[in-house]
Formats: sequence, C-alpha cells, structure tokens
Amino acid sequence: MKKYIVGNWKMNQNLAEIEDFFSSLKIDGAQCEAWVAPQAIHVSHLLERAKGTNLKVGVQNICEHEKGAFTGEISVASALDLGATFCLIGHSERRSLYNEDDDLLNKKVHTALKSGMTVIFCVGEQLIERQSGMTNAVLKNQILEGLEGIKPNSFQDGQLLIAYEPVWAIGTGEVATPEQAQQAHAHIRAVLAVELRLETKEIPLLYGGSVKPSNAEGLLSQKDIDGALVGGASLRGDDFTKLTNII
Ligand code: PGA
Repeated sequence: MKKYIVGNWKMNQNLAEIEDFFSSLKIDGAQCEAWVAPQAIHVSHLLERAKGTNLKVGVQNICEHEKGAFTGEISVASALDLGATFCLIGHSERRSLYNEDDDLLNKKVHTALKSGMTVIFCVGEQLIERQSGMTNAVLKNQILEGLEGIKPNSFQDGQLLIAYEPVWAIGTGEVATPEQAQQAHAHIRAVLAVELRLETKEIPLLYGGSVKPSNAEGLLSQKDIDGALVGGASLRGDDFTKLTNII
C-alpha cells in the first residue's frame, strides 16, 4: 500500500504564504504520495506552482449535485477539469459548522466516485463519545451511513481513502496516542471488510488530528496507519517536507 501525507489548508494561506510554502518544500525524493487541499479558489495557482514537483492538489469539499443552480458550490467536474485529483468529504468542520449529515455526505461520496475523483472520507468521534466508550459505534455508524451503497466495483483501488480524525484532536494540539489511533484504524478496516464487503479493495487509512513532525513517527509506524491528514503542520513547506521524510 502507498503511504500518504495530505495537507488540509482549510481557509488559510494567502498567495505570499503559498510562495513561502514552496520556497521551503523539498519533496523530490519523497517515497510517499504528497497531496495538498488549498482553498478551491487557489487550485489553479497551486497546480501551476507545483509543476515539476510530485505534489497533487485537491479540494476540501464538493457539491453532491453534478451541475446546475447551486450558487456558491463547487462541482466535481469543474474541480477535475482544473486538475484537482482528490476531495475531502465529511471533514468534522463540515459536519459540525455546516451541518453536513450522513445522508448528504453519502450523496457526495457517490457523486465524486462516479466522476473518477479520489475521495478522502473523514470520520471521527467527539470527546464525549470517546469518554463514554462509544468510539467504535460512532465510527461504524459514520462509515455505514456515509458509504451506503458503495460496492467493490464503485471505485478503483486507492480511489477511496478514509481519514480517522478524532474531533477532540483536531487543531487542539492533543494528539491521539499511537495505540488509540491504531485501535480505531483496525476497527475501521474491520467494518470496511465485514460490513461493506470491501476486503478485496485497497483503501488507505489516514490518521488526522494535531499531527506534526515531532509526533508523527509513533503514529505512522502503526500497522493500520497508511498516512496522515495534516492541518496546521501542513502550512509550512519545511514541516510538510519533514513529514514526507518521516513516513
Ligand atoms: P490539525 O487538523 O492537524 O490542525 O489538527 C487536521 C484536520 O483538520 O484535518
């Protein structure tokens, strides 16, 4: 299985900061996939700037509809047209701040996979859910609802990735322990295999939530962790470079 470092820039990085990122990015020899999702409005700029590097560019969200009267939305086809190769779906900020529910997320997954877009589907429990021993149940539910109707022939190997991002670890500096992350990933793999019968498919699993160069090694050395989805520490080219070296 390939390894992945994926940057989620959220609503950060102006053009000058993007220049800074590239001035300290050195991923020529990287042995992993190196992906970044900037603000959608910067996709073309980033692709231009990334020419000659191995960096792939994606979007942080897409519309569940293919086209039409949906003011302010981003279609999968337009993102692909520009050269974006992947999208995040179901990031916890989309779920909590924009009320994206499982049903909507499921439509987005279907629309994106059908169009040939690679999908990083994000799941993760809240702190209260972990504290009350509901982590496995929450993850299973998010996967079964979000991926409802997805069959082995709905996507190519590597076209669907799952990011496990405990909500309490996102942007908080409080990272899951390697053991907690591994346990959740093993559970997710089992749900994909047993409940969805996707055991024959290659589905990379990424960990996300306060990953940085100083804590990445323990997480990325776990058996069921194939990479990281990184917010804050992906904004600087030198940190991003370090993560690709660690993996
Ligand atoms: P963080 O964000 O690395 O800043 O915690 C991760 C994410 O939201 O994907």
